[in-house]
Amino acid sequence: MSDPSPLTTDGLVQILFGSSAFQMLNAGRNLGLFPLLHQQPGLTAQEIGEELGLADRPTQILLLGTTALHLTIRQDDQYRNADVLEGMFADGTWDIIEDLIEYEERIVRPAEVDFTDSLRANTNIGLRRVKGTGTDLYHRLSADPDLEQLFYRCMRSWSRLSNPVLIEKADLTGVRRVLDVGGGDGVNAIALAQANPGVEFTVLDLPGTVEIARRKVAEHGLSDRISVRAADIFADAYPGGHDCVLFANQLVIWSPEQNVRLLGKAYAALPDGGRVLVFNAMSDDSGDGPLYAALDNVYFATLPAASSTIYRWGQYEEWFAAAGFAKAERLPGGRWTPHGVISAVK
Ligand SMILES: C[S@@+](CC[C@H](N)C(=O)[O-])C[C@H]1O[C@@H](n2cnc3c(N)ncnc32)[C@H](O)[C@@H]1O
Repeated sequence: MSDPSPLTTDGLVQILFGSSAFQMLNAGRNLGLFPLLHQQPGLTAQEIGEELGLADRPTQILLLGTTALHLTIRQDDQYRNADVLEGMFADGTWDIIEDLIEYEERIVRPAEVDFTDSLRANTNIGLRRVKGTGTDLYHRLSADPDLEQLFYRCMRSWSRLSNPVLIEKADLTGVRRVLDVGGGDGVNAIALAQANPGVEFTVLDLPGTVEIARRKVAEHGLSDRISVRAADIFADAYPGGHDCVLFANQLVIWSPEQNVRLLGKAYAALPDGGRVLVFNAMSDDSGDGPLYAALDNVYFATLPAASSTIYRWGQYEEWFAAAGFAKAERLPGGRWTPHGVISAVK
């Protein structure tokens, strides 16, 4: 078996110092390097140091790191951002990326030191880094209002980054009312409502989260089309009157058995012909990628809940069948994150 892109020693360096690579991105974000170079491309190291309030030595350390990682480009002693970053400034995604970096630094990193222990114990040992007594991250957030605020701000950004895939792939033709199970702050219901004017939504989530969701829905002027209800998505029956059930970034949290249970509840709540939509990151059936899914799995293995993981496309098809749904349709997003939609009909 030959590897089409075998590991090189440079590749090994990137892995060995992977968290140092992240720190270059993180420091560039925290110090404002990338917005500075966006506004003033072509600054010299000395000018950058002056603008960022850094002495010469740390300026050199930072620029060596960001340039060796191709985040910045140095030409004739002048620096500018990589084209990928400039593209994100241009299309408005840079603000989202800043939140993702903050999420990785403040929520993922403290827990990921428990990755090996989490693998050994086959559970989310990293949850011990979060205050509270709940057995999953979401039931602990309300014990720490600052963390809760940070979590939902960043969660919204993760979803805004990927949910153009949901908006593009979710066909709501003929759908009247969507149940958004564990819909968080309503970010996906809001985006879908804006894209599908005739459709109404119900967002279900935990009591602390519904307050945040109601505020967001009202801010977007959609309170007449999106209602928000507190519910436990495992313990409570799903409200009727919906012809579509959406699980967005939800089934990555739970075990296969729990996912079949949740899909079974959706099946019970839907009329014949009703549709279930699952939207989240997927891993390849071949079990060798993509890299995004492979590395994001450190977070899923250590923190959210005991069995969280980025499942393979084929696993969703098995669960749909086990819950009673007819043949599933795969709709890969085809973007740089491995998000996709998989849907089935009752
Ligand atoms: C990863 S977030 C996804 C939120 C949203 N669907 C999105 O894509 O942005 C998971 C959501 O599920 C909610 N959740 C977790 N366990 C729950 C439960 N037992 N009952 C209701 N909601 C739950 C959490 O509060 C959180 O908002």
